[in-house]
Amino acid sequence: MADQTLMEKIVSLAKRRGFVFPGSEIYGGLAGTYDYGPMGVLLKENIERLWLAQFRDSRDDMYGVDATILMNPKIWEASGHVAGFSDPLVECEKCKRRFRADHLDDPKTCPECGGKLGEAKQFNMMFKTHAGAAEDESATVYLRPETAGGIFMNYKNVVDSAHPKLPFGIAQIGKAFRNEIAPRDFIFRLRELSQMEVEYFVKPAEWEAAFEMWRSVMHAYADVIGLPKDSVHELEVPDEDRAHYSKRTIDFEFDYPFGRKELWGLAYRTDFDLKAHQTGSGVSLEYLDEETKEKFVPHVIEPSLGVDRTVLAILSSAYREDTLGGETRTYLALAPKIAPVKAMVSPLLKNKPELVAKAREVREALRKVHPAIAWDDNGNIGKRYRRQDEIGTPFCITIDFDTLGEKPELKDTVTLRHRDTGEQERLSVEDVTARLREALG
Ligand code: GAP
Repeated sequence: MADQTLMEKIVSLAKRRGFVFPGSEIYGGLAGTYDYGPMGVLLKENIERLWLAQFRDSRDDMYGVDATILMNPKIWEASGHVAGFSDPLVECEKCKRRFRADHLDDPKTCPECGGKLGEAKQFNMMFKTHAGAAEDESATVYLRPETAGGIFMNYKNVVDSAHPKLPFGIAQIGKAFRNEIAPRDFIFRLRELSQMEVEYFVKPAEWEAAFEMWRSVMHAYADVIGLPKDSVHELEVPDEDRAHYSKRTIDFEFDYPFGRKELWGLAYRTDFDLKAHQTGSGVSLEYLDEETKEKFVPHVIEPSLGVDRTVLAILSSAYREDTLGGETRTYLALAPKIAPVKAMVSPLLKNKPELVAKAREVREALRKVHPAIAWDDNGNIGKRYRRQDEIGTPFCITIDFDTLGEKPELKDTVTLRHRDTGEQERLSVEDVTARLREALG
């Protein structure tokens, strides 16, 4: 399958089956924005829930915050984003189109019309707006370009309210905004994105151990959400490419259909941010070690994961086409934990009330294991299976006359169909429930 075709197929399936829609679509869209549909919302929630479980809730050293998107602009001055959060922009002297200079093969020639490109200028990627009725510079506020800013703003609040001992971390999931010069590759490079970030505060001498610890947590998370090990690669980011706040960064790259690109990042932000905010605000952000009575500004390790890039990595690694029963089909080989719908229950015929009643009973039993159990009684059974295959539902359960006791030895058994192989087995409802529980771990 040619890579471009694969990408087109993923975009098409995402729209057809309600994962991802272009933003503002009926008005012609808005570049760099996408909306999540019914299946996308469930997939995204699974990604976020598993992240929360792994990065925050299974640990005793983690705290949550939910900070605002609009913050005092001094934050972004202190953090260096006002001065330095920019990409090189070039404009074609002929057609006036604008490009990101570092994405061009030939930085002097317009890739659209062949015209001459002007000198590169730094273009700040923060979205600006105004807070309140005034629209002058004094009212300028920015949409946060990273959720990290809201975590640093609450470092002191968490210390003062929860009294954590170092090392400890603060986790947050939320929106971030970047006025990307060239949003592209579907949900890979967006102007409005979601991040799952941790700022982990450590004693300066302990940063390396914490860095290694989070590095392995990130690999474990990639495993939990079903990303193939051989598609995730580490890149030690060289000095000249690292963000201004980082002394060491490892990019977790993924083999997307359009090439190997950054999926997530792990950075050693030193004491850069807390020191900058201490200077900028005049408020001490030192930590008092109760045992040694030593006061110091903690250092920070930051695992930063983009939700949208994770969705795309999951969709592109799960996309499959094969032939089953003489028919070609498309399916998503999603890990059961990540699949939006865990199982679909179906009566063989929808106009037989006794089949429908039994199927509803089975569905309710399965819903005690997980709420995301679909119901489908539309069209023939083959069509129902195809629909579920395309959204990655691992199991389909069919209730037929044997379930009702037409063959007494099969009474209260159902057909369990497996998505990836199409294989079917006859099992009791209790066994199906146990299988589902086991698959969801
Ligand atoms: N707080 C650190 C930070 O924001 P980053 O490498 O700029 O670092 C972190 O972004 C992650 O956010 C990336 O690894 C990626 O997953 C995601 N991300 C960044 N820019 C993005 C964009 N324009 N569209 C979608 N996801 C993006």
